[in-house]
Amino acid sequence: MEISSALVIGAGTMGAGIAQWCAQRMVPTTLCDNNPEQAAKALKGIHASWDKLVEKEKLTGCQVSQMKSLLEVKPLAAVTDAVLVIEAIVENLEIKRALFRELDDRFPARTVLASNTSSFPIATMAEAVSPARRGQFLGLHFFNPATLMPLVEVIKGPATDEGVASELYAWFENQGKKPALCNDSPGFIVNRVARNFYGEALRIVETDDEASMREVDRILREVGGFKMGPFELMDLIGIDVNYAVTCSVWEAFGRPDRFAPHPLQKQMVDEGRFGKKNGRGYYRHG
Ligand code: NAI
Repeated sequence: MEISSALVIGAGTMGAGIAQWCAQRMVPTTLCDNNPEQAAKALKGIHASWDKLVEKEKLTGCQVSQMKSLLEVKPLAAVTDAVLVIEAIVENLEIKRALFRELDDRFPARTVLASNTSSFPIATMAEAVSPARRGQFLGLHFFNPATLMPLVEVIKGPATDEGVASELYAWFENQGKKPALCNDSPGFIVNRVARNFYGEALRIVETDDEASMREVDRILREVGGFKMGPFELMDLIGIDVNYAVTCSVWEAFGRPDRFAPHPLQKQMVDEGRFGKKNGRGYYRHG
């Protein structure tokens, strides 16, 4: 499959990173967000990141001008075609399903529709599109930051065409990613295993006690060999996003104790402490 155009919907943490990665792989890419300010902010951030890579001599000025010319921001209503659409909007099933219904109506039959969902079943999302499209519908779950993290989970729903999933898998491999083919089960692979990384850490600290969080993070980094501790990672992911994923995986398994959300996660969300993206999470940023 030749990905000669990509559309990324949602210009938040993940959408911006995925769009940046696509343009870096020389794919003509459009980035959309229903909040135009967010889309403009994302484009500015991507350009700044590329300019920094030129300063560090990791990319040439010529490469970056080409990447900039390949990435555009547009309202979704102004886009009518793409080979691959990657949805990276808020982790809310009904909002995602409504978006996929609209995309199914408006985009050509050959367009592949993919979701970057962390936790919702691909089967449930695919029901929002017409039966004819379901073969072209799958999960493509990137990791944060999408430009650097090699793993992409390729999730086949029950109706996903075998060829579509395997061609995308091969495309990611050719582009330097390390794809993993996953079953359509709650949390797929990484987010299911990671629930206990976050959950147990939260149960150890119990309260909003920064010193304890720093200690848990330090031990997991220095002794456990993890690149980031659980609180640092939740701040990077976004506490609102991480909480939504926790709730969704917990519900999907029938609310077992081992996946139960911790009250501290809800407290942070209620207090508007979303992590790095808005300057205050378990830690202060910026
Ligand atoms: P975010 O909150 O940073 O960004 C979401 C963006 O979607 C916002 O800019 C919002 O304005 C936009 N949006 C919401 N509804 C929209 C709509 N109907 N149409 C167009 N744009 C809309 O969220 P984040 O972290 O980027 O997550 C996005 C998706 O990626 C979620 O499904 C999440 O579970 C998943 N994900 C998140 C990861 C992370 O580390 N944050 C990692 C992997 C997947």
